[in-house]
Amino acid sequence: MEMTKEIEKKGLLFSDELLGKIREKFCRIDTDYDGSRRLFFENAGGSLRLKSAYQIGDELDEFPDCFMREHDASVKLNSYVKKGREDFRILLNAKSGAIATALTASAVMFKITEPIIEHSMGTNVVTTVLEHPSASDACRYYAAKYGKEVRIAPADKKTGGVDTQALLNLVDKDTAAISVIAASNMTGAMTDLKTIVEEARKINPEVYIITDAVQHAPHGLIDVEEIPVDAVNIAPYKFFGTRGLGIAYVSERVKYLPHARVLDGGFAQWELGSQAPAQYASVSEIVEYIAWIGAQFIDSTDKRELVEEGMNRIHLQEQALLYYLLYGADGRSGLVDMDGVETFFDFADLQNRDLILGIHLHNMDCRTAVQEYGKRGIIVYNREAKHYYSKQVAEFGTDGFVRVSPLHCNTIAEMEEFLKVTREITAL
Ligand SMILES: Cc1ncc(COP(=O)(O)O)c(C=O)c1O
Repeated sequence: MEMTKEIEKKGLLFSDELLGKIREKFCRIDTDYDGSRRLFFENAGGSLRLKSAYQIGDELDEFPDCFMREHDASVKLNSYVKKGREDFRILLNAKSGAIATALTASAVMFKITEPIIEHSMGTNVVTTVLEHPSASDACRYYAAKYGKEVRIAPADKKTGGVDTQALLNLVDKDTAAISVIAASNMTGAMTDLKTIVEEARKINPEVYIITDAVQHAPHGLIDVEEIPVDAVNIAPYKFFGTRGLGIAYVSERVKYLPHARVLDGGFAQWELGSQAPAQYASVSEIVEYIAWIGAQFIDSTDKRELVEEGMNRIHLQEQALLYYLLYGADGRSGLVDMDGVETFFDFADLQNRDLILGIHLHNMDCRTAVQEYGKRGIIVYNREAKHYYSKQVAEFGTDGFVRVSPLHCNTIAEMEEFLKVTREITAL
């Protein structure tokens, strides 16, 4: 595909025909638990699910068979675990290293952060104000335990993302590790990971770099060959999949760091114990789905190539939806120009933003705003500075955002519906 200036600026929508097929693949795309119609713009909290991701899970969960057995059902179940691992590697382009798992993304983040902080050379750990607490507190907890200093990089007030240069200013030859979010779960601004990895390793070639990709992974491509971080975690339930798993990649050198494991099981063992085939099969369904989108655009038998195309297309579709939300169309204002709405950031570069927006309505607090949207059939979420899971928003001079997080399977008509409801609420 030729990247024209127009596409760079405004993204590119899926055709109606493809979007129709995509929407068919999701559960409850616009239907609530009681059958009423609702728009789900809270995908940053837990995303709309692929039918296939939960169906395969239900099917496999019927079986009692344990892994490491030779009978057919056991071998079959185990094949889903193996395929899940392979697919996860394809998703991140991870050709080496190991896979770490836990029940949640938070738990897996603590699990991978400890050995890195414990065994790395260096006396300080750099993280940022924009981290989810599972990443920043893993740094704080283990840095205190192993006697290292924690340095916190500020936000870039203009973009709502991590301030790249300010972070790099905190890195020195004694920096043991950097833990930085791949895209903010409050503002959608993507981190310039490439620059951080390249420049930080010029300062200290040994520095370990961890990235929390829980919010970014459903919206944009990750490539650990191109940007060689040491650890990446994701949460399938925020990525069209199901709850019950946090899964991470760790690099080859992290793989061999001493860590909690069954000692005779080998160094590569970061999964620990009997894995759930249903969870791995769900991960595969996510990756198959992205590859299927890719196959609508290119002819290839290489799954990674299809995933790259699929993810880039998802990003372009989301960029087009974001453009509409921000700027509207046909004389109807978007959020940027709407009276009574504050959007906080500079949106000149939408290529480096995920489909997550923090807004503030001037006539009410964000909790009330969420209720007003709810009365009109739109689910969004209030991220308040007073809550420890969302105190990052205070960095932008507000006591709270209404977080708006649609997904690539939404339509322009749904964006317009959101704008219409916002106009109505701001006029109350
Ligand atoms: C960016 C980010 N990282 C990590 C997590 C942790 O996910 P979980 O609560 O599933 O452990 C979340 C959850 O909201 C998140 O948004």
